[in-house]
This record gives sequence, structure tokens and C-alpha cells, in this order.
Amino acid sequence: MVEEDLPSVIEIENISYPNPWQLSSFKGEIENRPISNPYVIIYRPLEKIIGYIIYWHIKNEVQISNIAISPDYRQLGVGEGVLRNILLEMRHKRAEFVFLEVRPSNLAARRLYEKLGFTILGLRKGYYRNPSEDAIVMGKSLSQ
Ligand SMILES: CC(C)(COP(=O)(O)OP(=O)(O)OC[C@H]1O[C@@H](n2cnc3c(N)ncnc32)[C@H](O)[C@@H]1OP(=O)(O)O)[C@@H](O)C(=O)NCCC(=O)NCCS
Repeated sequence: MVEEDLPSVIEIENISYPNPWQLSSFKGEIENRPISNPYVIIYRPLEKIIGYIIYWHIKNEVQISNIAISPDYRQLGVGEGVLRNILLEMRHKRAEFVFLEVRPSNLAARRLYEKLGFTILGLRKGYYRNPSEDAIVMGKSLSQ
């Protein structure tokens, strides 16, 4: 992800979340390399950004902080494929554990993470706003 990608990223973000990240948050992630790893997902035949993923890698831990796929390209295996690749790469880089937060109401994302072997570790009470919701904390070990 580079700054020129941000108009497309913001467009996808705004249709994907009730309480979307602001432009400054994405700029902050770009500036926070290499701790942050912000990537856009490009559909090559159209040279079009169809999604993005942002994750932090600190020592042996990975935190997935944002993943979104443009609505027209959902349920085609893109999110799963991207996540599988990142988990593989992180395993090669000797990361041991991956965490993320998800809204309890976000069944599509929860199913995706469950399919990849993430399990529920706990709840962060009142973590999300607009609408207010707890966060489910999910995690997956990479060391087995
Ligand atoms: C969650 C999201 C990233 C999934 O991306 P995607 O590319 O559509 O997902 P995939 O096509 O790779 O689906 C992989 C698996 O996820 C689950 N899944 C995906 N969409 C689903 C849906 N609408 N309903 C139920 N399960 C769903 C299924 O288990 C699916 O496997 P299957 O096809 O064998 O059933 C996408 O829906 C999205 O961008 N949502 C808005 C942003 C968001 O909520 N991000 C996550 C924040 S925690």
C-alpha cells in the first residue's frame, strides 16, 4: 500500500465498515513500516485494487488489524487466499502467534477465521463503537 492507493482503499473501507478508519489511520500504517505491513490486493486483469490487509509483526506475534475485500469480489476465496499466504509467510519468519479482533455480529469474518483455525480467546468489552459492540479476540498458533 502506498499513498496513491488510498482513495481506492478508503472507498472500500467506507462500504465495508459501519465505523470506518480515517485516511490518517491508513497514512499512519504506511509510515509505520516495517512494524506495520499494509498491502493492497490487486486484480491484475483490470489493474484494480479490490481489497487490502494490514498486519503488525512484532517479534513472535502478528496482529491482523484490518482486512477488507471490495463487495463485488467477496465470496470468491480472495480473503482466504490472502490470509493463508500471510500465515505461511509469518510461519517462515518464525512468528508464533496471530491475533485479531472481530465484531460478534460479523459472521462472514468469523467463519473465515474459524475456517483458518482461529479460536476464540476472549472478549474485549465495549471495544467497538457505532454501533457499540464487544470484540471477540481470536488467535491461532503458528508453531504447530
Ligand atoms: C470478511 C471478508 C474479508 C471475507 O473475504 P472474502 O474474500 O469474501 O472471503 P472468502 O471468499 O475468501 O471466504 C472464505 C470463507 O469465509 C467464510 N465466509 C466468507 N464470506 C461469508 C459470508 N458472507 N457468510 C458466511 N461465511 C462467509 C466462509 O467460511 C468462506 O469459506 P467457504 O467459501 O468455503 O464457505 C469480507 O467479507 C469483507 O471484506 N468484509 C467486510 C470487512 C470485514 O468485515 N473485515 C473483517 C473485519 S474483522
